[in-house]
Amino acid sequence: MALCFSFIFFFLCNFSHSSIAQHLNFTSFNISNSPWKPTQNRILLSQNSKFSAGFLPGSNSRTQFKFSVWFTKAPSDAVVWSASSKAKPSAAIVFDSSASLTINSTGQLLINDSSGNQWTPGNSSTNSSSATLILNDNGNLKFGTWESFRFPTNTFLPNQSIDTQIKIFSQNGKFKFENSSNLVLSSTSDQYYKTPWGLKSMDEDGKIEMENNFFLTSDFGDKRFRKLVLDDDGNLRIYSFYPEEQNHWKVVWVAIQQQCEIKGKCGENAICMPEEDAYSSTYCVCPSGFIENPGGAEQEGCERRFKLTTNTKFLRLDYVNFTSKFDKMKKIDARNFTFCEATCKSNPKCLGFGFKYDGSAYCVVLEQLLYGYWSPGTETALYLKVDVSEKESSNFTGMTEILETTCPVQISLPQPPKDSNTTTRNIVIICTLFAAELISGVAFFWSFLKRYIKYRDMATTLGLELLPAGGPKRFSYAELKTATNDFSNLIGKGGFGDVYKGELPDHRIVAVKCLKNVTGGDAEFWAEVTIIARMHHLNLVRLWGFCAEKGQRILVYEYVSGGSLDKYLFRSRRVVPVKSSEEQEEGATPGHDPAPVPDPNTEQKPILDWNVRYRIALGVARAIAYLHEECLEWVLHCDIKPENILLGDDFCPKISDFGLAKLRKKEDMVTISRRRGTPGYMAPEWITTDPITSKADVYSFGMVLLELVTGIRNFEIQGSDMNSDEWYFPGWAFDKMFKEMKVEDILDTQIKHCYDSRSHLDLVTRMVKTSMWCLQDRPELRPTMGKVAKMLEGTVEMIEPKKPTVFFLGGE
Ligand SMILES: *[C@@H]1O[C@H](CO)[C@@H](O)[C@H](O)[C@H]1NC(C)=O
Ligand SMILES: *[C@@H]1O[C@H](CO)[C@@H](O)[C@H](O)[C@H]1NC(C)=O
Ligand SMILES: *[C@@H]1O[C@H](CO)[C@@H](O)[C@H](O)[C@H]1NC(C)=O
Ligand SMILES: *[C@@H]1O[C@H](CO)[C@@H](O)[C@H](O)[C@H]1NC(C)=O
Ligand SMILES: *[C@@H]1O[C@H](CO)[C@@H](O)[C@H](O)[C@H]1NC(C)=O
Ligand SMILES: *[C@@H]1O[C@H](CO)[C@@H](O)[C@H](O)[C@H]1NC(C)=O
Ligand SMILES: *[C@@H]1O[C@H](CO)[C@@H](O)[C@H](O)[C@H]1NC(C)=O
Ligand SMILES: *[C@@H]1O[C@H](CO)[C@@H](O)[C@H](O)[C@H]1NC(C)=O
Ligand SMILES: *[C@@H]1O[C@H](CO)[C@@H](O)[C@H](O)[C@H]1NC(C)=O
Ligand SMILES: *[C@@H]1O[C@H](CO)[C@@H](O)[C@H](O)[C@H]1NC(C)=O
Ligand SMILES: *[C@@H]1O[C@H](CO)[C@@H](O)[C@H](O)[C@H]1NC(C)=O
Repeated sequence: MALCFSFIFFFLCNFSHSSIAQHLNFTSFNISNSPWKPTQNRILLSQNSKFSAGFLPGSNSRTQFKFSVWFTKAPSDAVVWSASSKAKPSAAIVFDSSASLTINSTGQLLINDSSGNQWTPGNSSTNSSSATLILNDNGNLKFGTWESFRFPTNTFLPNQSIDTQIKIFSQNGKFKFENSSNLVLSSTSDQYYKTPWGLKSMDEDGKIEMENNFFLTSDFGDKRFRKLVLDDDGNLRIYSFYPEEQNHWKVVWVAIQQQCEIKGKCGENAICMPEEDAYSSTYCVCPSGFIENPGGAEQEGCERRFKLTTNTKFLRLDYVNFTSKFDKMKKIDARNFTFCEATCKSNPKCLGFGFKYDGSAYCVVLEQLLYGYWSPGTETALYLKVDVSEKESSNFTGMTEILETTCPVQISLPQPPKDSNTTTRNIVIICTLFAAELISGVAFFWSFLKRYIKYRDMATTLGLELLPAGGPKRFSYAELKTATNDFSNLIGKGGFGDVYKGELPDHRIVAVKCLKNVTGGDAEFWAEVTIIARMHHLNLVRLWGFCAEKGQRILVYEYVSGGSLDKYLFRSRRVVPVKSSEEQEEGATPGHDPAPVPDPNTEQKPILDWNVRYRIALGVARAIAYLHEECLEWVLHCDIKPENILLGDDFCPKISDFGLAKLRKKEDMVTISRRRGTPGYMAPEWITTDPITSKADVYSFGMVLLELVTGIRNFEIQGSDMNSDEWYFPGWAFDKMFKEMKVEDILDTQIKHCYDSRSHLDLVTRMVKTSMWCLQDRPELRPTMGKVAKMLEGTVEMIEPKKPTVFFLGGE
């Protein structure tokens, strides 16, 4: 019987295969096309051929099929929908090769196979034999009133309504997106992310409309394939398809920047850690006093080595955050640490408490340790209750490092000594001030921390991912004309356009930049500006508004009073203009005077000491890392050079002009670098045919870092011994540092006298080593910007770099 059946089956199969439809694609499917079998190799195409539907064989099996919808022309990750069981919506039904799709005479559609797998569109309410299955141009599979857009699996497509009733699941079933805004753990419904406004739908340009007319943009325009996917790691991402870049689905937006904030990455008591280099992956560790849970294969949990007795102490874990079930977690209004600690101590059920040192009275007492993760963003220390016998050592330290690393102190540095042959007196004065600065750094810690937190909160609530409609303020041309007093106070001139100083009616001082050579229409300009404006970081110049009127393209920035870094670094040197036939390709930076006229103010800029230089380097590195890692790749080409690093009140560095390169074509940028023909700040790949990635910025940063140490402009030839074509600044510095072991030779002569090898050697070595890594000519050898920041902090181990070579001469 079975044999007979399979014979008939084989016959039918062969029959339909050979005579009815030799690979004819359906444009619609009705009763007369039934049955449709996987072996027929037929697909249902949308009219525009963009989407296909049909039986899709498993990746390594010709006998297992899913009934799916996919992007016809995307070679990988193309599937956007699959028929799945109602009981387990995350799991696509796997049919065997006996499967068939039929529409019967009462208009019912059924897919089934001989192993008993079945699927029917739940709610199709058709009852006529003329019912047809069609695939719309936007990828919506329709049968009667049923449509796949109402029952998505893990993907939303452009034009698909993201209704509050609709849920999507990650393919592994672990995570769920619901109520058009919440990401939750399927098993416990614990929420780990919420969009500030409910999402409504994505359009073809990749712009997501939200409630109340708020928008979210990613890589706007270009009519690419796009999809919004809940991935198996629990993150929600927008992907754009780049056929021109090896058919790559590029992530252009991601809901959660820090993977470890996704709940369920690790089990109870465990702490989730981000992987050093791959920001998308994580691992779990157990805190002191705990060992890995032997049973927990799925979720690596941890359990206590010994049961807690009354004989306990607290172990401090910096930047660690634990949460627990609502009823096992209490927020306590504790004015001070002692009180917070005492509360936990006196409660035998308390397992630890979280405390913030910023005076915000944040104290959370925990009776359960769930969803632990490490992230500096938490600014919390967790005090874990452990047995007194446990070692004191903790792998989670570094909280106080914030103190040295960002922009804490307002202090006036000494005027440079008139005579560069410094006297002992001068040395004493300068170095004493330097010490004073360190001390006041401690005093200013709290006020600084508060400000830092304010910025960070701003960033997470408004800035990072979402922006109100209109976002940056839209100014009229007339308003800006008034603010700048008819564009009378020119303070900068550069590649992107002229910069004027102005004052808004609310008395904010602004730098108004009139862009030139901007490509693209109003909508694109708006989209790009929106993206730039939503980037908030202490070390980025804030964009407050824009004007797009009468063909004008104007950006309104915060005014940074200190001027650009080059004025501080290259003071005593003759000004050697960058070779450029048509224009001075300098950053059009606020506070930057038209070059190359030597600026008399230059002489008045204070000299930056080692610590300030270090803080500038770190601030800039962090800001670029933020641009790369948090805002994703579309903010490349920050055009990093000293002209684009402005110094705020307390020498707090702020990067300007980031993101503007996006407003121009890449070809323009390349021509500029070719035209320059000087090894400046542009990475080798601008000249070779390699793709430009975030590593290009890493190179530029490395150059700036080296200039911070040496006080020498990289393309300025210093002295006759260096006056040769072979001379390459990074190579020279490398030899001095690692071959000749003469660090002093490369230090900025202006503050060499202040260099104390005991206290500065480590700092300076770290800066030089880091720059050597950044300046590797192969992009893949350069670290990511996040890693660079860590190298500067000294929180990762650094192996000896290779000597950077002169790329355009083909290396050494
Ligand atoms: C069916 O569609 C596929 C994918 O677009 C295409 O490669 C194939 O040529 C089509 N076959 C016919 C007969 O049109
Ligand atoms: C059509 O299929 C449905 C469900 O699969 C079934 O209930 C119905 O009886 C079928 N009608 C005919 C005429 O076979
Ligand atoms: C699918 O279901 C129909 C009716 O329910 C049945 O006649 C047919 O044999 C089934 N197909 C397979 C492959 O089992
Ligand atoms: C089918 O779905 C539509 C829209 O979701 C709904 O209005 C209708 O009541 C449903 N019908 C049945 C029979 O469930
Ligand atoms: C079923 O068919 C009858 C007559 O053809 C029609 O009146 C009725 O509205 C149909 N029901 C549905 C749910 O489509
Ligand atoms: C089914 O579709 C074919 C074209 O694919 C068409 O010729 C035929 O008339 C349709 N049959 C019914 C019952 O609608
Ligand atoms: C998406 O919807 C818009 C407006 O509703 C429409 O103009 C456009 O054609 C749709 N796109 C597709 C692919 O269906
Ligand atoms: C769903 O979201 C809306 C706002 O977008 C909110 O008012 C409502 O309470 C949410 N419902 C649930 C169950 O979370
Ligand atoms: C701390 O880190 C070191 C090195 O990474 C590791 O060997 C050790 O097991 C860690 N200790 C704890 C308690 O996690
Ligand atoms: C700490 O705060 C508590 C109340 O919150 C108060 O009673 C206590 O005196 C404070 N201790 C110190 C040292 O300030
Ligand atoms: C700790 O994590 C929870 C949930 O992930 C979050 O709500 C809370 O704000 C975090 N606490 C801090 C201080 O970041």
